[in-house]
Amino acid sequence: MSGLLAKGSELVIASHNKGKVREIAELLAPFGFNVTSAAAYDLPEPEETGLTFAANAEIKALATSAATGKASLSDDSGLAVEGLDGAPGIYSARWAGESKDFGMAMERIRQELIAKGIPESDWRASFICALCLHVPGQEPQHFEGRIDGLLTFPPRGEKGFGYDPIFIPEGHTRTFAEMDSTEKHAMSHRARAFKLFVNALK
Ligand code: IMP
Repeated sequence: MSGLLAKGSELVIASHNKGKVREIAELLAPFGFNVTSAAAYDLPEPEETGLTFAANAEIKALATSAATGKASLSDDSGLAVEGLDGAPGIYSARWAGESKDFGMAMERIRQELIAKGIPESDWRASFICALCLHVPGQEPQHFEGRIDGLLTFPPRGEKGFGYDPIFIPEGHTRTFAEMDSTEKHAMSHRARAFKLFVNALK
């Protein structure tokens, strides 16, 4: 990112979520940054008080760059279920509770869809990813990607993280958790947001 961020610069990933940091590091691998994470700096997690993915991404990026003095990249993402008016959305991590029990969060989605009387064939959902890059002294930059799909129950697959076991991307038959990371990265919301981010680096 010649203008925004030089090759070899340290880029702190503003996240404590290991699954997310691993995916971001994989997606950034070709670009030659020195990728570290907020967890490695032992930074506290800021309260996500925003009402959109982008607002929460900005809160995390600004907190991380302020604490480290380094460029930071944050990701605020989640699953928006159409029949639940976009829930859990920005509350995707919070639905899993302190114990990060995504089995429980996925079951809650199923129960709420059933309670609303929505037929399974209409259990549409999208993963959304908002990235925010903050280089100290510059304006924060935002990039957003999404992928649409259908929810399936019971959850299937052991790969990925979070809600991956119930999400079948449009045009596919397997869940994200049944795909290897290369296949998921070819189409995911995060990969799409990264494509925009990487284009901005050129
Ligand atoms: P955040 O850390 O507040 O952005 O929380 C995002 C939450 O959304 C994660 O904890 C996951 O539950 C969910 N999520 C985001 N991206 C993915 C993904 O690629 N697969 C599965 N779940 C995801």
